[in-house]
Amino acid sequence: MIKTVSTTPYTDQKMGTAGLRRKSKVVVQPNYVENFMQSIFNVIGDLQGKTFVVGGDGRYYNDVAIQKIIKMAAANGVSRLIIGQNGFMSTPAGSNIILKNKADGGFILSASHNPGGINGDFGIKYSNHTGGQIPSSISDQIYQQTLNIKEYKICDTEDIDLSKIGKQELCGMEIEIIDPVVDYVEMMENIFDFPAIKKLFQNGFTMRFDAMNAVTGPYAIRIFEEILGAKKGSVVNYNPLPDFGGLHPDPNMVYAKELVDYMYSDQAADFGAANDGDGDRNMILGKKFFVTPSDSLAIITDNFCYIPAYKNGIYGVAKSAATSTSVERVAHAHNIGYYEVPTGWKYFVNLMDSKRITFCGEESFGTGSAHIREKDGIWAVLFWLNIIAATGKSVEEITTEHWQKYGRSYYVRFDFEGVDTNVADKLMESLEAKLPSLKGQTINGYQVSEAGAFVYNDPVDHSSTKNGLIIRFNDGSRIVYRLSGTGSSGATIRVYLERYSKADLHNDPLKMLTEIFEIAMAVSEIPERTGKHQADVVT
Ligand code: G1P
Ligand code: ZN
Repeated sequence: MIKTVSTTPYTDQKMGTAGLRRKSKVVVQPNYVENFMQSIFNVIGDLQGKTFVVGGDGRYYNDVAIQKIIKMAAANGVSRLIIGQNGFMSTPAGSNIILKNKADGGFILSASHNPGGINGDFGIKYSNHTGGQIPSSISDQIYQQTLNIKEYKICDTEDIDLSKIGKQELCGMEIEIIDPVVDYVEMMENIFDFPAIKKLFQNGFTMRFDAMNAVTGPYAIRIFEEILGAKKGSVVNYNPLPDFGGLHPDPNMVYAKELVDYMYSDQAADFGAANDGDGDRNMILGKKFFVTPSDSLAIITDNFCYIPAYKNGIYGVAKSAATSTSVERVAHAHNIGYYEVPTGWKYFVNLMDSKRITFCGEESFGTGSAHIREKDGIWAVLFWLNIIAATGKSVEEITTEHWQKYGRSYYVRFDFEGVDTNVADKLMESLEAKLPSLKGQTINGYQVSEAGAFVYNDPVDHSSTKNGLIIRFNDGSRIVYRLSGTGSSGATIRVYLERYSKADLHNDPLKMLTEIFEIAMAVSEIPERTGKHQADVVT
């Protein structure tokens, strides 16, 4: 029943910041998924005895792609697959299931926070035995395979019924279908003080969690409403839909508008949160109050003592270079290790595996810890609830007290989307060439202390990665420029701005960053080169 099918290569199967991500219309082309998967299997080599975890965020094509992957895994000699019921599994739950079962890797079918549907995006994230996504050295090999692929193997059978929990067999491969929520809930119960959070809700505390019609709905209902006792209706948009009900499942001030409007209304709950399509991103809100992801990482790190799993001490902390420096001050105050890595969660994996860090985060609404090797949306929400339960303080009080203690990093990200790829590449190239000459210059009242490419030397595997350009100023302000690695068409230029203040704690971030924004535009020539005078998305 095993068929070998001939195929011809696609030239666009290079993975980006987080796996392969393309327009759905691209992925549905004949043999597109097959070519990519066979290339992965070819690079792994001997699949005898190997176990992989498979699931997805339920978006359009999840159901079709997962059947292909199952049949190809069987045909290529994989011994066992662990699959989420109905093909569903969040990214953090998948990482946990890989680690818990000592699996050899896993595939999460998701384009994360990108919109779904036939006019949206689809993607495949590939993790190895660490529970984290593969390093670039491996994804480069897979890309080479995709360019030379001539045939793939597939088991020629009926589709597998993914609704029934339990074991079945396909072409000599064992398939185990599991409830993806159970193990995840157990892990969360072992990290956080559930009784304290339960008491918080018993005392009338209110929350709203927006699952954005994506994968975290069932996890959130089980944890927040059923176990912790948040009142029914606290979790909204909890039904995972193939097109996310038309929502753009990216939890930020722009796309989680429904939640933001509610949390800024007079009816607001005490606490608000949202997750993205595959459940690894999070947004934290208080009553009429927004916590930037960079501040959230700093506050989480500063408050580790309230969390049962971390109260005996933590290793260091890491952030992506583009993330604000607020966590750096916390790391120094607690005298723990501090690391700055390129954008992408995979760069945290070695630091976690070698016990250099416990917490890590990115400005792009990603926070997590060494409990798994992916960022974890619900974990971050529970962390905040646990701090609130332990301190009795509101989100706003916790955050403002943090600023009083450490000062505040005003921080905003500007995205210039749909830029011609050549224009974007040239812009970055000439900017990089120009940066060294800026050192020592004063622009718009700000003196440049350092300017150049961000280069990360991994202390564990000694690989070196260049990612983005940074201009640092004497007062601690920074400008970071990067090209996005997760888009599915054209280029997105991301410009990250930061300004530190010890005394002025309650100002408007955009106002505080006006001059730095002007410098960022003038130096990079973004308006002249792209025709864009304003960013498309500001978060
Ligand atoms: C974006 C974020 C990055 C995150 C990634 C996957 O990548 O900026 O922090 O790790 O999505 O969620 P980018 O498009 O910037 O390459
Ligand atoms: Zn995601």
